[in-house]
Amino acid sequence: MGDDRIEGSLTIDSEASLVTVRLAIREAATALGFGLADVTRVVTAAFELARNVHFHAQNGSVRWRSVDQMNSVGIEIVFVDQGPGIADIELAMTEGWSTTGGPGIGLPGSRRLIDEMELLSAPGRGTTVTVRKWLK
Ligand SMILES: Nc1ncnc2c1ncn2[C@@H]1O[C@H](COP(=O)(O)OP(=O)(O)OP(=O)(O)O)[C@@H](O)[C@H]1O
Ligand SMILES: [Mg+2]
Repeated sequence: MGDDRIEGSLTIDSEASLVTVRLAIREAATALGFGLADVTRVVTAAFELARNVHFHAQNGSVRWRSVDQMNSVGIEIVFVDQGPGIADIELAMTEGWSTTGGPGIGLPGSRRLIDEMELLSAPGRGTTVTVRKWLK
């Protein structure tokens, strides 16, 4: 069963903070009962989304918590920044598309690794990315 006391938040503002986020999400997902493969999926997605906050918006934050739905338990992770925002979300989700000369696989890759992803963003209004993964 899940532990609904699992929650936390961290500031994202440096490469060191990305490592801290990765460790914290690994700990939370493990405590929730995810197996090693799913923990790795959640951690990999979270690391990419945290990287996006740091590299595209300089700084922001992440918060996570356990969530319940019917008889399923999952982890919800929310990334928030006040950076430049994304003009075309569909394009941003396209594999190989990057405004900064990157591989452009962070967002589409993350989407594949988790169960649900919501991306709220507009130019000048920052970006909020919410992901959820459910225990199978
Ligand atoms: N938090 C964010 N704020 C502003 N723009 C973002 C943010 N996250 C993603 N983007 C935009 O979406 C594009 C695609 O993101 P994605 O993570 O897929 O690729 P990338 O970060 O450019 O390269 P990488 O493959 O190294 O992650 C980025 O190039 C950027 O324009
Ligand atoms: Mg990226």
